Amino acid sequence: MFNDDVRKKDVKTPTIVGEVWHDGEFIKWDDARVHVMSHVLHYGSSVFEGIRCYKTSRGPAVFRLREHMQRLLNSAKIYRMEHPWSLGELSDAVVQLVIRGGLQQCYVRPIMFRSLDEAHPAFGVNPFPNPMVCYIGAWDWGKYLGDAAIEQGVDACVSSWNRLSPNSMPVMAKAGANYMNSQLIKMEAITNGYAEGIALDDRGYVSEGSGENIFLVHDGKVITPPLSSSILPGITRDSVIEICRTLEIPLVESGIQRAALYVADELFFSGTAAEITPIRSVDRIPVGIGSRGPITERIQKAFFEITSGEREAPGAWLTFVKEHQPAHHENNGHHADKSGEVKKATVTASASDTRDAIHVTLTE
Ligand SMILES: Cc1ncc(COP(=O)(O)O)c(C=O)c1O
Repeated sequence: MFNDDVRKKDVKTPTIVGEVWHDGEFIKWDDARVHVMSHVLHYGSSVFEGIRCYKTSRGPAVFRLREHMQRLLNSAKIYRMEHPWSLGELSDAVVQLVIRGGLQQCYVRPIMFRSLDEAHPAFGVNPFPNPMVCYIGAWDWGKYLGDAAIEQGVDACVSSWNRLSPNSMPVMAKAGANYMNSQLIKMEAITNGYAEGIALDDRGYVSEGSGENIFLVHDGKVITPPLSSSILPGITRDSVIEICRTLEIPLVESGIQRAALYVADELFFSGTAAEITPIRSVDRIPVGIGSRGPITERIQKAFFEITSGEREAPGAWLTFVKEHQPAHHENNGHHADKSGEVKKATVTASASDTRDAIHVTLTE
């Protein structure tokens, strides 16, 4: 029934950081476990972030940390998740994790979710009795849509699945449950031989990819769907908008019809994982010249120069972990180091200079 090659295509072997931040403490990767009856597993009650930390000449630098943490707090607020964590504490935790992990570059994954109070278990849909927990993990993730994709572009399709309608699930929140919709879009795309699917919103306008925002270039102008097209307010999307301003490339937010994808001069995805990835075809129709277009290349070049610290960012976009001053917050004193040696039976040290870095196979 299923084609195994297609199913394995997305399996990467990243180097992971052997410690995970958990509610103010660092624990071993192997100890970061939850009970199978946790609310989140049954009802999708999680909110999370995906953040990249880039290699620069001033050491690792986390890209737009504040904005990611603000979005995480917003997602939690939308879902009435009460928790004790502040933007400063969570940001410091990310910085500490990156320093302790010893990787020059990595992808950081903070997640907050409703777990299980084992002393007073609650199993209903009502999330309120279930305690909130927060974890932050990190690993070295390469190019999300493949190494060649950044230059050559990817083949995408328009998905038969629509993006969520705003009054069914709030797409503004980066919630775990939203990614069931993303998984349908992604599985359909890869099963049919595409790298990614583009979803329309419930009115039939272009929305976004399963894990990326989308941009179209027409007659020298860059166009991207507005937030009202059921998109996640992407932080890379915001960065592209700012970069266009800096490069004096005209940009508008506007509803986009499906057919406009086929006749666009250029198309590209933006996202923390995908960065800036050109789209070279949609539904097998070549986009423009059928490979990365010149405006995409300019924006992509500026983006990578900014993330590598070679070009000045339009704002305070990089947090250089070695220079970071921790925020003063109440729980500062509880950051005890509980980590020990990484178990050699299950993991392998990846590099002598990489503390606690281990190889495992993760699926996206
Ligand atoms: C559905 C969806 N849209 C857009 C994005 C891009 O957002 P960002 O640039 O903040 O990573 C992502 C990735 O987080 C996503 O999952």
